[in-house]
Amino acid sequence: MAEREVIGVVGGGQMGSGIAQLAIVAGLHVLLYDSDSEALARATNSISASISRLVAKGHLSQPAGDNAMKNLKCIQNLEEFRAADVIIEAIVESEDVKKKLFSELDKIAKVSAILASNTSSISITRLASVTTRPSQVIGMHFMNPPPIMKLSEIIRGADTSDEVYVTIKSLAERLGKTVICSQDYPGFIVNRILMPMINEAFYTLYTGVATKEDIDTGMKLGTNHPMGPLELADFIGLDVCLSIMKVLHEGLGDKYSPCPLLVQYVDAGRFGRKKGIGVYLYQKEPAKSKP
Ligand code: NAI
Repeated sequence: MAEREVIGVVGGGQMGSGIAQLAIVAGLHVLLYDSDSEALARATNSISASISRLVAKGHLSQPAGDNAMKNLKCIQNLEEFRAADVIIEAIVESEDVKKKLFSELDKIAKVSAILASNTSSISITRLASVTTRPSQVIGMHFMNPPPIMKLSEIIRGADTSDEVYVTIKSLAERLGKTVICSQDYPGFIVNRILMPMINEAFYTLYTGVATKEDIDTGMKLGTNHPMGPLELADFIGLDVCLSIMKVLHEGLGDKYSPCPLLVQYVDAGRFGRKKGIGVYLYQKEPAKSKP
Protein backbone atom coordinates (compact mmCIF):
# COMPACT_ATOMS: atom_id res chain seq x y z
CA MET A 1 0.00 0.00 0.00
CA ALA A 2 1.30 3.48 -0.87
CA GLU A 3 2.87 5.74 1.76
CA ARG A 4 0.17 7.56 3.72
CA GLU A 5 1.05 11.25 3.80
CA VAL A 6 -2.17 13.14 4.49
CA ILE A 7 -3.68 12.41 7.87
CA GLY A 8 -7.13 13.58 8.90
CA VAL A 9 -7.76 13.99 12.62
CA VAL A 10 -11.33 14.35 13.88
CA GLY A 11 -11.61 15.88 17.35
CA GLY A 12 -9.26 18.56 18.62
CA GLY A 13 -9.46 17.75 22.34
CA GLN A 14 -6.56 16.54 24.44
CA MET A 15 -5.98 13.42 22.32
CA GLY A 16 -6.74 14.75 18.82
CA SER A 17 -4.51 17.80 19.27
CA GLY A 18 -1.67 15.59 20.55
CA ILE A 19 -2.03 13.16 17.64
CA ALA A 20 -2.07 16.07 15.16
CA GLN A 21 1.09 17.47 16.75
CA LEU A 22 2.90 14.14 16.49
CA ALA A 23 2.00 13.81 12.83
CA ILE A 24 3.02 17.32 11.76
CA VAL A 25 6.34 17.02 13.58
CA ALA A 26 6.90 13.74 11.68
CA GLY A 27 6.47 15.67 8.41
CA LEU A 28 2.96 14.50 7.58
CA HIS A 29 0.21 16.83 6.41
CA VAL A 30 -2.65 17.04 8.87
CA LEU A 31 -6.23 18.15 8.39
CA LEU A 32 -7.77 18.79 11.82
CA TYR A 33 -11.52 19.04 12.36
CA ASP A 34 -13.69 19.59 15.44
CA SER A 35 -17.42 20.26 15.55
CA ASP A 36 -16.68 22.97 18.12
CA SER A 37 -14.78 25.87 16.54
CA GLU A 38 -13.51 27.01 19.96
CA ALA A 39 -12.00 23.56 20.55
CA LEU A 40 -10.24 23.87 17.20
CA ALA A 41 -8.81 27.27 18.18
CA ARG A 42 -7.67 25.85 21.54
CA ALA A 43 -6.06 22.89 19.75
CA THR A 44 -4.12 25.16 17.39
CA ASN A 45 -2.88 27.28 20.31
CA SER A 46 -1.83 24.28 22.36
CA ILE A 47 -0.02 22.64 19.40
CA SER A 48 1.77 25.89 18.61
CA ALA A 49 2.78 26.40 22.27
CA SER A 50 3.97 22.82 22.55
CA ILE A 51 6.08 23.09 19.38
CA SER A 52 7.59 26.35 20.64
CA ARG A 53 8.57 24.52 23.85
CA LEU A 54 10.21 21.74 21.81
CA VAL A 55 12.19 24.38 19.89
CA ALA A 56 13.14 26.26 23.08
CA LYS A 57 14.42 23.04 24.66
CA GLY A 58 16.44 22.19 21.55
CA HIS A 59 14.41 19.04 20.72
CA LEU A 60 13.40 20.58 17.38
CA SER A 61 15.17 23.18 15.22
CA GLN A 62 13.36 26.47 14.55
CA PRO A 63 12.90 25.67 10.81
CA ALA A 64 11.56 22.18 11.68
CA GLY A 65 9.12 23.77 14.14
CA ASP A 66 8.00 26.31 11.52
CA ASN A 67 7.56 23.58 8.93
CA ALA A 68 5.56 21.48 11.35
CA MET A 69 3.07 24.32 11.88
CA LYS A 70 2.81 24.77 8.08
CA ASN A 71 1.77 21.10 7.88
CA LEU A 72 -1.31 21.77 10.01
CA LYS A 73 -4.58 22.82 8.39
CA CYS A 74 -7.71 23.27 10.45
CA ILE A 75 -10.83 22.55 8.45
CA GLN A 76 -14.43 23.62 9.02
CA ASN A 77 -16.06 21.03 6.82
CA LEU A 78 -15.85 17.23 6.98
CA GLU A 79 -15.92 17.09 3.15
CA GLU A 80 -12.29 18.26 3.14
CA PHE A 81 -11.30 14.83 4.47
CA ARG A 82 -11.65 13.67 0.87
CA ALA A 83 -7.92 14.44 0.56
CA ALA A 84 -6.87 12.23 3.51
CA ASP A 85 -5.12 8.86 3.24
CA VAL A 86 -5.79 7.94 6.86
CA ILE A 87 -8.44 9.52 9.09
CA ILE A 88 -7.95 9.14 12.85
CA GLU A 89 -11.06 9.74 14.93
CA ALA A 90 -10.59 11.14 18.47
CA ILE A 91 -14.03 12.45 19.42
CA VAL A 92 -16.19 11.76 22.47
CA GLU A 93 -16.18 8.15 23.77
CA SER A 94 -19.75 7.30 22.68
CA GLU A 95 -20.51 4.41 20.35
CA ASP A 96 -23.55 6.12 18.81
CA VAL A 97 -21.71 9.38 18.12
CA LYS A 98 -18.68 7.55 16.70
CA LYS A 99 -20.87 5.33 14.49
CA LYS A 100 -22.62 8.37 13.05
CA LEU A 101 -19.22 9.92 12.27
CA PHE A 102 -17.81 6.71 10.73
CA SER A 103 -20.85 6.41 8.49
CA GLU A 104 -20.34 10.03 7.30
CA LEU A 105 -16.58 9.59 6.85
CA ASP A 106 -17.15 6.42 4.84
CA LYS A 107 -19.17 8.43 2.32
CA ILE A 108 -16.62 11.24 2.12
CA ALA A 109 -13.23 9.49 2.30
CA LYS A 110 -11.49 8.22 -0.82
CA VAL A 111 -11.91 4.53 -1.55
CA SER A 112 -8.37 3.65 -0.45
CA ALA A 113 -8.52 5.64 2.80
CA ILE A 114 -8.15 3.92 6.17
CA LEU A 115 -10.52 4.91 8.98
CA ALA A 116 -8.85 4.59 12.38
CA SER A 117 -10.29 5.18 15.83
CA ASN A 118 -8.45 6.33 18.94
CA THR A 119 -11.25 4.84 21.05
CA SER A 120 -10.28 3.67 24.52
CA SER A 121 -12.70 0.77 24.61
CA ILE A 122 -15.42 0.72 21.94
CA SER A 123 -15.61 -2.22 19.55
CA ILE A 124 -13.77 -1.57 16.27
CA THR A 125 -15.85 -4.30 14.63
CA ARG A 126 -19.06 -2.44 15.49
CA LEU A 127 -17.67 0.90 14.25
CA ALA A 128 -16.59 -0.86 11.03
CA SER A 129 -20.07 -2.36 10.62
CA VAL A 130 -21.57 1.03 9.68
CA THR A 131 -19.08 1.48 6.82
CA THR A 132 -18.74 -0.13 3.41
CA ARG A 133 -15.02 -0.78 4.08
CA PRO A 134 -14.72 -2.91 7.24
CA SER A 135 -11.35 -4.28 6.11
CA GLN A 136 -10.01 -0.68 6.22
CA VAL A 137 -11.21 0.14 9.75
CA ILE A 138 -8.80 -0.25 12.66
CA GLY A 139 -8.14 0.93 16.21
CA MET A 140 -5.12 3.18 16.72
CA HIS A 141 -5.11 3.91 20.44
CA PHE A 142 -2.61 6.49 21.62
CA MET A 143 -1.91 7.12 25.29
CA ASN A 144 -2.28 10.50 26.97
CA PRO A 145 -0.45 12.79 26.20
CA PRO A 146 0.26 11.39 22.70
CA PRO A 147 3.48 13.36 22.09
CA ILE A 148 5.05 11.97 25.28
CA MET A 149 3.72 8.45 25.75
CA LYS A 150 5.65 5.81 23.85
CA LEU A 151 2.84 3.35 23.12
CA SER A 152 0.29 2.86 20.38
CA GLU A 153 -2.13 -0.02 20.88
CA ILE A 154 -3.43 -1.23 17.55
CA ILE A 155 -6.74 -3.05 17.53
CA ARG A 156 -7.80 -5.33 14.72
CA GLY A 157 -11.52 -5.52 14.08
CA ALA A 158 -13.03 -8.80 12.91
CA ASP A 159 -12.46 -7.84 9.25
CA THR A 160 -9.36 -5.59 9.41
CA SER A 161 -6.99 -6.70 6.65
CA ASP A 162 -3.35 -7.63 7.19
CA GLU A 163 -2.34 -4.89 4.75
CA VAL A 164 -4.16 -2.22 6.73
CA TYR A 165 -2.66 -3.50 9.99
CA VAL A 166 0.85 -3.29 8.52
CA THR A 167 0.24 0.23 7.15
CA ILE A 168 -1.05 1.54 10.50
CA LYS A 169 1.73 -0.20 12.42
CA SER A 170 4.35 1.51 10.25
CA LEU A 171 2.53 4.86 10.61
CA ALA A 172 2.60 4.49 14.42
CA GLU A 173 6.31 3.62 14.24
CA ARG A 174 6.94 6.67 12.06
CA LEU A 175 5.33 8.70 14.86
CA GLY A 176 7.90 7.20 17.23
CA LYS A 177 5.65 4.68 18.96
CA THR A 178 6.16 1.12 20.08
CA VAL A 179 3.22 -0.93 18.87
CA ILE A 180 1.25 -3.62 20.64
CA CYS A 181 -1.58 -5.48 18.93
CA SER A 182 -4.91 -6.35 20.55
CA GLN A 183 -7.87 -8.33 19.35
CA ASP A 184 -11.19 -6.52 19.53
CA TYR A 185 -12.54 -7.19 23.05
CA PRO A 186 -13.81 -4.58 25.55
CA GLY A 187 -11.05 -2.26 26.79
CA PHE A 188 -8.45 -4.03 24.60
CA ILE A 189 -5.22 -4.56 26.61
CA VAL A 190 -4.35 -1.35 28.47
CA ASN A 191 -7.76 -0.17 29.65
CA ARG A 192 -8.97 -3.66 30.47
CA ILE A 193 -6.25 -3.73 33.11
CA LEU A 194 -5.99 -0.02 34.03
CA MET A 195 -9.66 0.95 34.41
CA PRO A 196 -10.63 -1.71 36.97
CA MET A 197 -7.73 -0.41 39.09
CA ILE A 198 -8.99 3.18 38.80
CA ASN A 199 -12.55 2.01 39.55
CA GLU A 200 -11.30 0.13 42.62
CA ALA A 201 -9.53 3.30 43.78
CA PHE A 202 -12.92 5.07 43.58
CA TYR A 203 -14.53 2.25 45.61
CA THR A 204 -11.73 2.56 48.18
CA LEU A 205 -12.53 6.28 48.51
CA TYR A 206 -16.33 5.74 48.36
CA THR A 207 -16.33 3.17 51.16
CA GLY A 208 -14.19 5.40 53.41
CA VAL A 209 -11.19 3.11 53.54
CA ALA A 210 -8.78 6.00 53.04
CA THR A 211 -8.41 9.60 51.90
CA LYS A 212 -7.79 10.38 48.24
CA GLU A 213 -4.28 11.55 49.10
CA ASP A 214 -3.43 8.30 50.91
CA ILE A 215 -4.86 6.17 48.09
CA ASP A 216 -2.70 7.99 45.55
CA THR A 217 0.42 8.06 47.75
CA GLY A 218 -0.07 4.36 48.49
CA MET A 219 -0.11 3.42 44.83
CA LYS A 220 2.72 5.79 43.86
CA LEU A 221 5.17 4.77 46.57
CA GLY A 222 3.83 1.27 47.11
CA THR A 223 3.81 0.13 43.49
CA ASN A 224 6.13 2.65 41.84
CA HIS A 225 3.43 4.18 39.62
CA PRO A 226 4.29 7.73 38.48
CA MET A 227 0.76 8.92 39.32
CA GLY A 228 -1.82 7.68 41.79
CA PRO A 229 -5.00 6.17 40.27
CA LEU A 230 -7.29 9.05 41.28
CA GLU A 231 -4.84 11.65 40.00
CA LEU A 232 -4.54 9.64 36.78
CA ALA A 233 -8.33 9.46 36.45
CA ASP A 234 -8.52 13.26 36.67
CA PHE A 235 -5.82 13.47 34.01
CA ILE A 236 -7.60 11.06 31.65
CA GLY A 237 -11.00 12.69 32.28
CA LEU A 238 -13.62 11.16 34.61
CA ASP A 239 -16.16 11.25 31.77
CA VAL A 240 -13.79 9.15 29.64
CA CYS A 241 -13.12 6.74 32.57
CA LEU A 242 -16.85 6.26 33.16
CA SER A 243 -17.54 5.64 29.47
CA ILE A 244 -14.80 2.97 29.42
CA MET A 245 -16.13 1.32 32.61
CA LYS A 246 -19.60 1.16 31.05
CA VAL A 247 -18.16 -0.64 28.00
CA LEU A 248 -16.30 -3.11 30.27
CA HIS A 249 -19.44 -3.62 32.38
CA GLU A 250 -21.64 -4.26 29.35
CA GLY A 251 -19.11 -6.53 27.63
CA LEU A 252 -17.53 -8.39 30.54
CA GLY A 253 -20.09 -8.47 33.36
CA ASP A 254 -20.95 -7.10 36.80
CA LYS A 255 -17.42 -7.39 38.15
CA TYR A 256 -16.80 -4.19 36.14
CA SER A 257 -19.72 -2.17 37.49
CA PRO A 258 -18.73 1.55 37.67
CA CYS A 259 -18.31 2.89 41.22
CA PRO A 260 -21.30 5.13 42.22
CA LEU A 261 -18.87 7.87 43.28
CA LEU A 262 -17.36 8.00 39.78
CA VAL A 263 -20.88 8.20 38.33
CA GLN A 264 -21.81 10.98 40.76
CA TYR A 265 -18.73 13.07 39.95
CA VAL A 266 -19.48 12.83 36.24
CA ASP A 267 -23.16 13.72 36.88
CA ALA A 268 -21.88 16.81 38.71
CA GLY A 269 -19.72 17.82 35.73
CA ARG A 270 -16.51 17.07 37.67
CA PHE A 271 -14.65 15.71 34.65
CA GLY A 272 -11.13 16.18 36.04
CA ARG A 273 -8.29 18.47 35.08
CA LYS A 274 -9.91 19.68 31.87
CA LYS A 275 -12.81 21.13 33.92
CA GLY A 276 -10.65 22.38 36.81
CA ILE A 277 -12.30 19.89 39.19
CA GLY A 278 -12.55 16.13 39.45
CA VAL A 279 -11.43 14.12 42.46
CA TYR A 280 -9.12 17.07 43.13
CA LEU A 281 -9.58 20.80 42.68
CA TYR A 282 -7.17 22.45 40.23
CA GLN A 283 -6.26 26.09 40.48
CA LYS A 284 -6.74 28.04 37.31
CA GLU A 285 -3.61 29.92 36.16
CA PRO A 286 -3.72 33.33 37.88
CA ALA A 287 -4.72 36.01 35.34
CA LYS A 288 -1.69 38.05 34.29
CA SER A 289 -2.05 41.72 35.26
CA LYS A 290 -2.08 44.10 32.32
CA PRO A 291 1.11 46.17 31.88
P1 NAI B 1 -11.86 15.59 24.78
O1 NAI B 1 -13.17 15.78 25.48
O2 NAI B 1 -10.65 16.30 25.27
O3 NAI B 1 -12.02 15.95 23.20
C1 NAI B 1 -13.03 15.46 22.38
C2 NAI B 1 -13.21 16.47 21.24
O4 NAI B 1 -14.11 15.89 20.27
C3 NAI B 1 -13.85 17.79 21.70
O5 NAI B 1 -13.04 18.87 21.26
C4 NAI B 1 -15.22 17.80 21.02
O6 NAI B 1 -15.63 19.11 20.62
C5 NAI B 1 -14.98 16.92 19.80
N1 NAI B 1 -16.17 16.27 19.27
C6 NAI B 1 -17.15 15.65 19.98
N2 NAI B 1 -18.06 15.13 19.13
C7 NAI B 1 -17.64 15.42 17.87
C8 NAI B 1 -18.14 15.14 16.57
N3 NAI B 1 -19.26 14.45 16.39
N4 NAI B 1 -17.44 15.57 15.50
C9 NAI B 1 -16.29 16.29 15.66
N5 NAI B 1 -15.77 16.59 16.87
C10 NAI B 1 -16.44 16.15 17.97
O7 NAI B 1 -11.63 14.00 24.75
P2 NAI B 1 -10.23 13.20 24.64
O8 NAI B 1 -9.74 12.95 26.01
O9 NAI B 1 -9.37 13.86 23.63
O10 NAI B 1 -10.75 11.77 24.09
C11 NAI B 1 -11.08 11.60 22.72
C12 NAI B 1 -11.09 10.12 22.41
O11 NAI B 1 -9.79 9.57 22.72
C13 NAI B 1 -12.11 9.28 23.18
O12 NAI B 1 -12.57 8.25 22.37
C14 NAI B 1 -11.28 8.73 24.34
O13 NAI B 1 -11.80 7.53 24.86
C15 NAI B 1 -9.94 8.49 23.62
N6 NAI B 1 -8.78 8.45 24.51
C16 NAI B 1 -8.68 9.30 25.57
C17 NAI B 1 -7.58 9.25 26.41
C18 NAI B 1 -7.46 10.17 27.58
O14 NAI B 1 -6.57 9.95 28.44
N7 NAI B 1 -8.28 11.20 27.70
C19 NAI B 1 -6.48 8.30 26.17
C20 NAI B 1 -6.64 7.49 24.97
C21 NAI B 1 -7.78 7.57 24.20
